Amino acid sequence: MARWVEVELGPGDVDAGLVDELSGRLWSLGVVGIEERPLDGGGVRLVVGPAHDDPAAVLAELTTLREGDRWGGLRVRALASDEEPWLDEWRAHAEVVRVGRFVVQPAWLAAAPTRPGDVVVVLDPGRAFGHGAHPTTRQALAALERLVSAGTSALDVGCGSGVLSLAAAALGARVVAVDVAGDAVAATRANAERNGVAAFVEVSDTPVGAVRGRFDVVVANIGAATLVELAGALTARTAPGGVVVLAGVLAQRRDEVLAAYDRALGTSDGVVDATAVAAADGASHDGRWRVLAEDVLDGWWCVSLRAPADREHVDAGPG
Ligand SMILES: C[S@@+](CC[C@H](N)C(=O)[O-])C[C@H]1O[C@@H](n2cnc3c(N)ncnc32)[C@H](O)[C@@H]1O
Repeated sequence: MARWVEVELGPGDVDAGLVDELSGRLWSLGVVGIEERPLDGGGVRLVVGPAHDDPAAVLAELTTLREGDRWGGLRVRALASDEEPWLDEWRAHAEVVRVGRFVVQPAWLAAAPTRPGDVVVVLDPGRAFGHGAHPTTRQALAALERLVSAGTSALDVGCGSGVLSLAAAALGARVVAVDVAGDAVAATRANAERNGVAAFVEVSDTPVGAVRGRFDVVVANIGAATLVELAGALTARTAPGGVVVLAGVLAQRRDEVLAAYDRALGTSDGVVDATAVAAADGASHDGRWRVLAEDVLDGWWCVSLRAPADREHVDAGPG
């Protein structure tokens, strides 16, 4: 069965906002990757790798969008398996990615020169998302560099290639990595072996709501809709004083996502205190979550929320 979907927007249909919105909707379905290519004569082609090894949800969403007013011009096609594009094409252009001390080294390229203090992660994403270069992955890597040290417990939700898990493990974390996509689970396992950290990275397709324990750092680089859906589960998995890092959100959806976390944390007066960035180094003792850091890179927003030191136990919500 075809697993990849091609979507074309003609020159008359393309403006940056529309393409971003379409990408955002597709990410929110949990697709593993979207490659955007310009078309000759204007227009854009998006090549979309569906989640769950199945394009049905993506095709259904696109069909719904085409029935609406704004998206009637979309041309949508499921690719045959011999047309699957990414493996052959992007690999030729892959480069070493540097984020802070992290050096994400494609496994098939010659090893890049390193500097003292570099933390090298050798990666082959296979068919999973995450070769390190995407802005959202970069943002999550930068957050992990700040938050993880030897002995940190970390939960990577939507591990994709395993890039974030391996980076955390390389800094000394013990990691639980989960993903709904079989390709991602396989890629993360293989990459953990490749980097000699398999003993420190437990990988599975366990739904986040069923993961046991609470973690110093929870990281999730998934679309806004999934982060909203998983708000209860992600915050419940965060230890007192711990941090949840949310990435994969288009900047215009920041307020919507923060509001969902307020709701998930169960108060009407805003448990996520978005005004407290400067004073947020330590965990609060007033039961309130804090925005520890936030940034926007190439239109993508990433936030780190610190749980209060004295939080009550919260049961995981569904998901
Ligand atoms: C954008 S990729 C992130 C990959 C990698 N963590 C990175 O930062 O580059 C999102 C991943 O989330 C997975 N995913 C989507 N919905 C999920 C869910 N509800 N639970 C766990 N994983 C999910 C997708 O299969 C995909 O591998």
